[in-house]
Amino acid sequence: MATRAAERPLGLDDLDVSRLDEWLEYSRILPKFRTLRARGPLHWCPESAFGPYWSVVSHAAIMEVEGRPDIFSSRWDLGGITIFERNPDRSEPEMPMFIAMDRPQHTGQRRTVAPAFTPAEMARQAPDIRRRTADLLDSLPEGEVFDWVDRVSIELTTGMLAILFAFPWEDRRLLTKWSDTATDTTAIADDEANQRRWDTLFEMVAYFTKLWNERAAKDPGPDLISMLIHSDATRNMTPQEYLGNLVLLIVGGNDTTRNTMSGAVMAQNLYRANWERMMADPALIPNGVAELIRWQTPLAHMRRTALADFELHGETIRAGDKVVMWYLSANRDESVFADPDVFLPWRENARRHLAFGFGIHRCVGARLAELQVGILLEEMAKRRMRVELAGEPTRVYSNFVHGYRAMPVEIRRG
Ligand code: HEM
Repeated sequence: MATRAAERPLGLDDLDVSRLDEWLEYSRILPKFRTLRARGPLHWCPESAFGPYWSVVSHAAIMEVEGRPDIFSSRWDLGGITIFERNPDRSEPEMPMFIAMDRPQHTGQRRTVAPAFTPAEMARQAPDIRRRTADLLDSLPEGEVFDWVDRVSIELTTGMLAILFAFPWEDRRLLTKWSDTATDTTAIADDEANQRRWDTLFEMVAYFTKLWNERAAKDPGPDLISMLIHSDATRNMTPQEYLGNLVLLIVGGNDTTRNTMSGAVMAQNLYRANWERMMADPALIPNGVAELIRWQTPLAHMRRTALADFELHGETIRAGDKVVMWYLSANRDESVFADPDVFLPWRENARRHLAFGFGIHRCVGARLAELQVGILLEEMAKRRMRVELAGEPTRVYSNFVHGYRAMPVEIRRG
């Protein structure tokens, strides 16, 4: 008798969801996660380009892992927060950052930057974000093909970051370059390219060290560099910690929001009627923003390392195991989100998405990201702006950053 698909043992092909080539197409990676979810919340992949690892694929199981930071560690020296490993044979510099620390160090450093993202700060930033967004949209060509990623997503998020750091405006594209370099997974896998990658990151350190020294000589200000200089928890950071936390804030604030803004164009083209309904009724936009972030899930995973043996959903995770929480899968978990592949701005539980993570490391910049994306959608609605794909978008070659390198579009009104 033929074995039904549901009974067939899962092979390495099913289990290894980390293969980079499969991340270039939605049509390949999403069904793989669907198969895994149908078979259980946790799966052990015994070998991969990134070594053996657990995949946590259900919404509930990810919340359980994130809820036990005492067992599932983020520590950079144990492997950090992505599926990648530091190569012990390479003399790579260390890059400690608070997203990759456990309590108590994490607590103090997170508290230092948190004041930059309070509701009051968001209210202070909003008019400026709206002005920049409106000016940018008004400057876009009509009836002409251009790259949405470069002209809109990168420009808006890089500009935001320059403001947060009080970074020299004319040099702001350096922030884009450094963020892309930090997350360049193709370079990480290749010794020579990785060396060039580090050269670029050291340029960044040199630049920020200059800014640090200039700001240290001045009174405290509301920018992130000044906050790091003047807080007890971060004032005495080692140069490596300074580098690590810079990369964290630059990547955190850059790639993620950028790919939500690019995802907005995809959602609009794939789910035209739902998008139009949101544009016609801007009261739907705040929920639509949460839905867009769920649907896109700009960071596909975070990783933890088990500090002790732990039973979860009938599986034994051993001390030292690598545990990869696939947010992209949790946000498509059909037991939580009906018709999860559909972009539905009025989805009742869109806010339950895990794209910002959960627990003590939940994204500290979430409010800022929502604010920027919400303003972009509102300003597009005001202009009755339709952004139509004018060619195949190019995806980022990564199983971590989930987004687009380029997206040819043309603007139409109506
Ligand atoms: C849609 C946009 C964004 C997404 C999807 C996103 C996603 C995430 C995720 C998944 C985490 C880890 C959560 C966990 O481990 O539980 C995180 C942490 C973090 N994010 Fe974001 N992020 C976004 C925007 C931003 C922005 C705008 C900033 C700052 C400018 C930022 C700064 C950070 C920082 C500093 C952390 C570390 C928090 C901690 O370890 O306590 N993020 N983000």
